Amino acid sequence: MSIAYLNNEFLPLEDARISPMDRGFLFADGVYEVIPFFHGHSFTLEGHIQRLQRSLREIHLEIDWTVEDWQKLIEELAYRNGGGNQSIYLQVTRGIAMKRSHSFPDSVTPTIFAMMTPVDSFLAEDVTQAEGIKAITLPDIRWKRCDIKSISLLPNILMKQQAKDLSAQEAILIRDGQITECAASNVFIIKDDVIKTPGKSEHILGGITRDLIIHLAHTNALNCQECELVLDDLLLADEIWVCSATRQVVPVVTLNDKAVGDGKIGPCWKQMAQLYQQYKQCTYGDFDE
Ligand code: PDD
Repeated sequence: MSIAYLNNEFLPLEDARISPMDRGFLFADGVYEVIPFFHGHSFTLEGHIQRLQRSLREIHLEIDWTVEDWQKLIEELAYRNGGGNQSIYLQVTRGIAMKRSHSFPDSVTPTIFAMMTPVDSFLAEDVTQAEGIKAITLPDIRWKRCDIKSISLLPNILMKQQAKDLSAQEAILIRDGQITECAASNVFIIKDDVIKTPGKSEHILGGITRDLIIHLAHTNALNCQECELVLDDLLLADEIWVCSATRQVVPVVTLNDKAVGDGKIGPCWKQMAQLYQQYKQCTYGDFDE
């Protein structure tokens, strides 16, 4: 039985109820986070909490929770749901107001909801078992504050479905000729052993996994640049990776039905995937499950 958290209460997920007057339901007036747990341990938790706090600030949703309060909720929920590879979905909305009005209600209590979901798409601990994915490119149809992790995901949903309809697992997005990110992940390309990714801006979500990959590249003397990228960079790339909390780092081997590089998983990805796994091991010690 999956245990959820809703406004100060831990309860079975199927018993959780939200009012239709919640501004999350009516307006998508809220933000969220997805935090990975490996073998029962949270990963990059601090970064996710900091980003949540930033998202809340950016939408002017005032809430007096400290980093420690969020940490306590997340750890408690994970404990109640047992170990294993899971992710926590955490959502905060502006709360319930009995009149539907676009501007902020005068006094309202934010709704806090969290649940845990098993994740089966985590990077294989044996990276030689990894499989590449197919991606397509699409125009980025989202708003101009993609740096906020908003629960308003309709454009992302439509683009992800468009990819799925073409048997692809991700859509890489292009806005005004520039690569931004993907429908639900960030993107990296590799050309002549240089790792490149679009720089942070209001057009991309500052991914926690993206930050970690950049950190791992720099601490291991790999050439990694944050720079503008265009469609040709994707089409001529030796390798393309996408990354997120739940996917970690995944190689794209087919783009728009054409092979990326030689169509096989590339050596740079293998190196990064190994660094990623080593980093997890250093964080937790050897897993003993
Ligand atoms: N999405 N960009 C977008 C649009 C995303 O939705 C995500 C993650 C990322 C990667 O961010 P991070 O590395 O912090 O997970 C980038 C989550 C996993 C989701 O919506 O389920």
